[in-house]
Amino acid sequence: MAKVQVSYNCRDCGAVYRRWQGKCEDCGGWNTIEESKGGATSGAPKGLTGKKGRAVNLVSLDTPLKEAPRLMTGIGELDRALGGGMVPGSAILIGGDPGIGKSTLLLQAMGQLSLKGSDCIYISGEEATAQVQMRANRLGLSGAPLKLGCETSLRDILTTLDEAPPKAVVVDSIQTLFADNVESAPGTVSQVRVCAHELISFAKRKGTIVLIVGHVTKDGQIAGPRVLEHMVDTVLYFEGDRGHQFRILRAVKNRFGGTDEIGVFEMTGAGLNEVTNPSALFLADHNSREPGSAVFAGIEGSRPVLVEVQALVARSSAANPRRAVVGWDSGRLAMVLAVLDARAGLGLAGCDVYLNVAGGLKISEPAADLAVAAALISSLSQTPLPDETVVFGEISLSGDIRSVSQTDARLKESAKLGFAKALMPKGKKVGTKAITQQNMGHVGDLVTQFYPDGV
Ligand code: TYD
Ligand code: MG
Repeated sequence: MAKVQVSYNCRDCGAVYRRWQGKCEDCGGWNTIEESKGGATSGAPKGLTGKKGRAVNLVSLDTPLKEAPRLMTGIGELDRALGGGMVPGSAILIGGDPGIGKSTLLLQAMGQLSLKGSDCIYISGEEATAQVQMRANRLGLSGAPLKLGCETSLRDILTTLDEAPPKAVVVDSIQTLFADNVESAPGTVSQVRVCAHELISFAKRKGTIVLIVGHVTKDGQIAGPRVLEHMVDTVLYFEGDRGHQFRILRAVKNRFGGTDEIGVFEMTGAGLNEVTNPSALFLADHNSREPGSAVFAGIEGSRPVLVEVQALVARSSAANPRRAVVGWDSGRLAMVLAVLDARAGLGLAGCDVYLNVAGGLKISEPAADLAVAAALISSLSQTPLPDETVVFGEISLSGDIRSVSQTDARLKESAKLGFAKALMPKGKKVGTKAITQQNMGHVGDLVTQFYPDGV
């Protein structure tokens, strides 16, 4: 008889170990490793012997494709983040901090869809139906023919769905579901994995769109196994600062479209509103007369987005000056500071530096380097940037300013919002005449802007 293999699995991330240990080396969790019999086998797998399988039906790549039309939710920013609507039979995972607005967004989307005549179901494992109803009333959806359910048993949910498969179903949230054939408590790796697997196979079987809400742990990962992200077709993160009304919906994985598009929303008393022109909103309170503020002309997905970068540089008496960053990469800030020090002789080593991207947006583009540098020097010199100026460009370690993509789109958006000048990398003159282009080849050129007589 084959020996039963005993393996040890991490409850949080699903990592497999040969023997028990107190700390999971993969996710760093303490006391999360549990014994599982007959789980992962060690050693090489044995060859398949005995019964013959069924031949797989192979198709040629040039077979004409029957593509089902995508389902548009009617919420433009959500459809944009999804890469142009939802694909029938797909499984979509939406992650985000508690209270960020996942339930609100999905309730609005399902409400809109049902108003357009699609059959939709919203299943909440966290709230009672009366609570969801109350929220729907607040969102102006009281007349929507959306069906609500309050249930946590996977078996009961699947039975209900199997009887009359809807166009789309929301399961809020995967951590509250439980499958009665699995022993562990709801929210554990094995439960989450089994429940997600069953829901996803239901989606593929019946062509229903399954939207799964997943909570996010303190370090920003979707709680439960990371395998959840591999299982679904699309992973969306709903992020933003709870102190701000802006919310960003970002695709991090999409089998049916790009992952670089974002959807921008504004949380109001009556639910989430789409923000079709994010730049205007992010710059609403911008005051160009303040030292330490620079407007960055960035690109999010296919869309130019203008956002204000704020810096505060102050002399520090501490041995280790403070560096705090919100909305940008702190490693990248350290690099820009080092380049300004080494290549332009600014002497920022003894200064506290605070950097903030206004509006709660997170920038990941290297093109923001020059805008960050401009904000830093402006704060240090207590000189505001020239009026109505945008900045973009990547800074290399040598201090050279490198050109960035989509210059044309950046300039056009800036001109549209009334900016008259751009501090930007050298390169061929492009597009719009409405904006004066000041080319910079080296960070030294930027420093001269603020210190015409030298540092
Ligand atoms: P919710 O959708 O419940 O968040 P999640 O499902 O991600 O945990 O959003 C809850 C927050 O949103 C709550 O703090 C109140 C706020 N909110 C509004 O400001 N306006 C509204 O119309 C609604 C429904 C919620
Ligand atoms: Mg919720």
